Amino acid sequence: MFKHIVFSCLFLAALPVSASADDLARGEELFRSVCGACHSLTPGRHRTGPSLHAVWRRPIGNVADFRYSAAFVERSKSGDVWNAEALDTFLKKPRRYIKRTRMQFKGFKDPADRAAVIAYLKSLGK
Ligand code: HEC
Repeated sequence: MFKHIVFSCLFLAALPVSASADDLARGEELFRSVCGACHSLTPGRHRTGPSLHAVWRRPIGNVADFRYSAAFVERSKSGDVWNAEALDTFLKKPRRYIKRTRMQFKGFKDPADRAAVIAYLKSLGK
């Protein structure tokens, strides 16, 4: 029951600790229909974008055999990882989070879409 303690931070409140089965199913569907064209979840299998296998808490721009844009290489030096906050900001407007990224995706406006995809990626674990 402690999982449901109300977080003081609004952002965390929008991303419940335990995502419902519905969220995960919606996240998987969104991933397949939107992200899957450019990203696989298989280690080492890259499409236009890098494999997102174990992307949860992975450092930004960290896949050794994927050629990232110069903008991503630069951003990777920050050492930041793909946590919920970073993914939420990136998926809202990729070009705002990392200027001149090559990821051709305009972003999800609806926070619920972002939360569902993030919950799905997180559920896949490391
Ligand atoms: C049209 C192709 C395309 C689509 C659609 C797309 N991506 Fe990407 N994605 C890319 C490319 C290309 C990169 C590498 C960007 C760069 O090098 O600037 C990337 C990078 C990423 C990264 C950073 C990975 C890393 O190793 O640091 C994440 C996370 C990501 N995408 C998530 C998503 C998610 C989630 C979706 C669906 C909501 C999505 N992408 C949709 C092409 C795409």
